[in-house]
Amino acid sequence: MAVAILLVGGFGTRLMPLTKNTPKPMLTVAGVPVTEHQLAMAKAAGITEIVLATSYLSEVFIPYFGDGSKWGMKIKYAVEKEPLGTGGAIRNAAKLLDTNESVVILNGDVLSSHNLSEQIRQHEAHDADVTLHLTQVADARAFGCVPTDSDGRVSAFLEKMENPVTNQINAGCYVFNPRVISTIPLDTVVSVERETFPELVDSGAKVFGYVESAYWLDIGTPRALLKASIDIVKRSGDFLAMPGSTIDPTAVITGGSCIGPDSSVGAGAVIDGSIIEAGCVIGPNATITDSFVATGAEVKNNVKITSSCVTNSEILSIP
Ligand code: GDD
Ligand code: MG
Repeated sequence: MAVAILLVGGFGTRLMPLTKNTPKPMLTVAGVPVTEHQLAMAKAAGITEIVLATSYLSEVFIPYFGDGSKWGMKIKYAVEKEPLGTGGAIRNAAKLLDTNESVVILNGDVLSSHNLSEQIRQHEAHDADVTLHLTQVADARAFGCVPTDSDGRVSAFLEKMENPVTNQINAGCYVFNPRVISTIPLDTVVSVERETFPELVDSGAKVFGYVESAYWLDIGTPRALLKASIDIVKRSGDFLAMPGSTIDPTAVITGGSCIGPDSSVGAGAVIDGSIIEAGCVIGPNATITDSFVATGAEVKNNVKITSSCVTNSEILSIP
C-alpha cells in the first residue's frame, strides 16, 4: 500500500498575519486544519502511513496530530532546521519511510477531490518514475505549467512563467517511485519544481501526467482560504457551528460561515461568509463579513469588520 509525505514546512508569507503563530496547513477550513482534510483524502485512497515534512512552526503539528491513531493512521514527523525546499524536504522525510511502495507527495496547502487511488493505479500501470496530478486554471502564472504529449507523458515542467505555454498546471500531488526519491541529494536545499522535475524530464525519465479537473484549490491566500471553507460548509448547510461553540439565538450567521469550537457569538451579531476559528469572542451586534478571525481573537461589541484578517493583536484588510 502506498505511503505519503505531506509538505507542510513553508512560511505561508501571503497569509500573514494569520501565519505568524500558525503554519498555513494548520489554519482551519470548515472547522478543521487543512492538513486534516488532506489526511482524510489520503485515508480514502487507502494510505495509512504518513510523514509530515515540517520546518516553520513545526512544533504546532505534533500536539494536534500525535501519532495519528485518532485518525486510524501512523503519522511521523520530519523536522528541517532550515527549510530544505520541496525536493530536500521529500528526501529528508523519506528517511522515515522504509518502503518499496509508491510514495504520494502532497503540497500541504491544496484541497483536492481528485481520485488519488486512480492516480496511483495509473502510475503503477505505467511503471512510471513520477506521476503528477495536473489540472486546468484560468491564469497559470502562479503555478507550475506542465504540458503533456498525446501519451500523457510530461514534456516540460515550467515553474511560474510570465507567459504560460499552457493552462494545464501542477496541482501539487505527486506519486513517486521510491527509487527516484533516493536520487535527490540529502541535506541539500532542492526545489522539486525548479530542479528535480525539469531534470527528470530532460533525462528521459518516465514522468506522466494524471489529468483530472475535480474540485481543486490552493489555499495560499486569505481569499482562497475563505472560499475553501465556504465551499465545504455550503455542501451541507448555510453555516457550520463546531461542537463547543455558543451562539446567541438572535445572531445571524450565513454565507457558509464556520464558528470554531469554544467560540462565542453575542446577541445580534451578524456573520457572513467568514471563518471564526477556535476560542474567539464575537461581541453583541458585531458585524463580520468576508473575514478570517484567527484562534483566540476578540471582536468587540458593535464593531464592523469587512474583508479582513483578525488576530488577537491586529486587523489587516485583505487585498
Ligand atoms: N517541509 C518543507 N520545506 N515544505 C515546504 C518547503 C520547505 O522548504 N517549501 C515549501 N514547502 C511546502 C509549503 O508549505 C506548501 O505546502 C508546498 O510545499 C508548496 O509550496 P508553496 O509555497 O505553497 O508553493 P506554490 O503554491 O507557490 O507552488 C506550488 O504549488 C502549486 C499548486 O498549488 C508548486 O508546486 C507549483 O508548481 C504548483 O502549481
Ligand atoms: Mg501553494
